[in-house]
Amino acid sequence: MDRAEARLMEENARIPRQPESRDVRARSRAFGYGKVILIGEHAVVYDQPALAAGLSLGVWAEVTHGTGHLTAPDWQLDTWAGESTALGQALSAILRRLDVTDVDVRVGGDLPAGVGLGSSAAFATAVARAIAQARGRDPDAALAAAADAEGIFHGTPSGIDLAAASSGEIGRFQRGAGWRPVAAARPLTLCIGLSGVQRATRDQVDQVRRLREETPPVDSVIATLGQLALAGERAVQRGDFDDLGRLFDVAHGLLAALRVSSLELDTLVHHARAAGALGAKLTGAGGGGAVIALAPGHEQDVLDRWSAAGYHGFIAEIGELGLRKRDTGIESPSNNIAASTIPRPVESST
Ligand code: PMV
Repeated sequence: MDRAEARLMEENARIPRQPESRDVRARSRAFGYGKVILIGEHAVVYDQPALAAGLSLGVWAEVTHGTGHLTAPDWQLDTWAGESTALGQALSAILRRLDVTDVDVRVGGDLPAGVGLGSSAAFATAVARAIAQARGRDPDAALAAAADAEGIFHGTPSGIDLAAASSGEIGRFQRGAGWRPVAAARPLTLCIGLSGVQRATRDQVDQVRRLREETPPVDSVIATLGQLALAGERAVQRGDFDDLGRLFDVAHGLLAALRVSSLELDTLVHHARAAGALGAKLTGAGGGGAVIALAPGHEQDVLDRWSAAGYHGFIAEIGELGLRKRDTGIESPSNNIAASTIPRPVESST
């Protein structure tokens, strides 16, 4: 056990616990938001700032009394804590961190997996939060547990996915500094296009690390991506979509320079621009996964063009959660057009 873990256990020991319920009807549900990285993926691994936004698409987890069994009927997944699969190991890590053994977890949601929309972080966040709530553990312990699980999925993630999965808002993330919500002047409608190619974040991150080692000037590309993220934050705050679109285009070019784009991603980006987008870029680790396009008034044109080229896309509103909180003080969990198909993010023990 390292010092951080020991400290966390000491802290947990001081937290008054709710009595552990043996009532099988006692349930706890929690939600993890999917996310898009607007600008700064990969650069964020090297301590640069990045701009991300939560989606109302995501993953829910429901916890009942049990024996460490996890099921996700929608995705035909079934595992036990301790199994050698990534999912089994991730569940074990969460249970270990939260010092819990006697729960079963059911998971569901509508976030496509492995496409750069943060499904693993949303999964880890939902499961850790639901278990922590069920057993009266501190929210910080839930975050640490989710980070352990995310480490099993991705090696050494920057933490941006987890921060966005917990927040659901637009925010700036930087290693060390953490997540800072960014107030959008107006909500953004994004077109999200799926390349249909699955890829592993870990491999993409390794590829950039090797490129950086072999070609040191690549560092300046990474630093520029960080600058673009800060410029993107200002554009979001001003509601300046023209500027944000240009920044998307430049960021996509630099990510291609880092060799994380692909034929499919470039094709989606070019189709989006041809359909009237102000800008488009890959989002997440690249190699496959998804692109985002900002095309005010032309969203349907972008989707139609992607569809004609054989790609699936959808529209997501981002930033509205933060705006509602600011204007009304009321948190609204879900705000994009796919919201009606999403299980509501209920975060309460019943
Ligand atoms: O897993 P993805 O596709 O959301 O990518 C995560 C973002 C990276 O910057 C590529 C990796 C990281 O840990 O930040």
